[in-house]
Amino acid sequence: MIALASDHAGYDYKEKIKTLLDELKLPYRDFGTSSKDSTDYPDWAHKAAQAVSSGECEQGILVCGTGIGMSIVANKHKGVRAAVCESVTAARLARQHNNANVLTVGERIIGWESVVDIVKVFFSTSFEGGRHARRVEKIHSTTGL
Ligand code: RB5
Repeated sequence: MIALASDHAGYDYKEKIKTLLDELKLPYRDFGTSSKDSTDYPDWAHKAAQAVSSGECEQGILVCGTGIGMSIVANKHKGVRAAVCESVTAARLARQHNNANVLTVGERIIGWESVVDIVKVFFSTSFEGGRHARRVEKIHSTTGL
């Protein structure tokens, strides 16, 4: 299950991502927001990231204007590894090397066609493990997050 959330600046992409995930047959849960009315991105990022942290959802996609605010918030949650991806290469490496479990994108930063490619690559690429597993473990061991 993919936890999905956006603020107003990411709302249009979030809605389009739902159609894309339906096409890819990837189940999701939408944590909001539910309109383009101005709102605060941490409110939505916290909800979706908490779902990933608790195990209710295995992965997530968060959208705001830049993807940056969403990633900062999500990475405060235990067990969450959120990556802002602006390219297919970043999406692939975020999975292979960082075992990222939350993808964040910026609606004001990248075009929709890029988002389609990034989502497809992110959710079809596996973690490589090995030396990267040791490094990922160190992300969490120092802070307990
Ligand atoms: C909203 O204007 C904008 O600040 C927000 O969507 C996001 O880009 C923050 O990181």
